[in-house]
Amino acid sequence: MSRRTDVTEELTADHRRVERLFAAIGEAPVRAKRRKELADTLTTELMRHSAAEEAYLYPTVRETVPGGDSLADKELADHAGIEGHLRDLEGYDADHERFDALLAVLKAEVAEHVRNEEERLFPRLRRCCSADRLGGLGDDVRRAKRLAGG
Ligand SMILES: [Fe+2]
Repeated sequence: MSRRTDVTEELTADHRRVERLFAAIGEAPVRAKRRKELADTLTTELMRHSAAEEAYLYPTVRETVPGGDSLADKELADHAGIEGHLRDLEGYDADHERFDALLAVLKAEVAEHVRNEEERLFPRLRRCCSADRLGGLGDDVRRAKRLAGG
């Protein structure tokens, strides 16, 4: 029987998808409408990812990882920053002077989020949680994303 994808693998796959979207935006011509379309897809993807993490990942981190409360609080603060910039980005077309600057800020914030989780938070969670529980959380995240249209 094949092993189900656990929550850290599921969320890591989201991170790779988001990085590919940033790369695609970077490759699209500057000020092109295509950039805005890709940025809208990026926004949807990131909001869904954040919601799944807030519903399933961070509560488990608080419960199982030593020092988990401060790790989760830091992640929530980072999410709030990213969501604020996504809302700002929504108000601009690709030919607005603020569009590329906001995207650059978001790219740096997301890169920091990805590093924090993949290098610190996920390894700690894997040490503190059973494979069965991590697999169950992976199922929860997949279900949540499906319900959100993913
Ligand atoms: Fe994440």
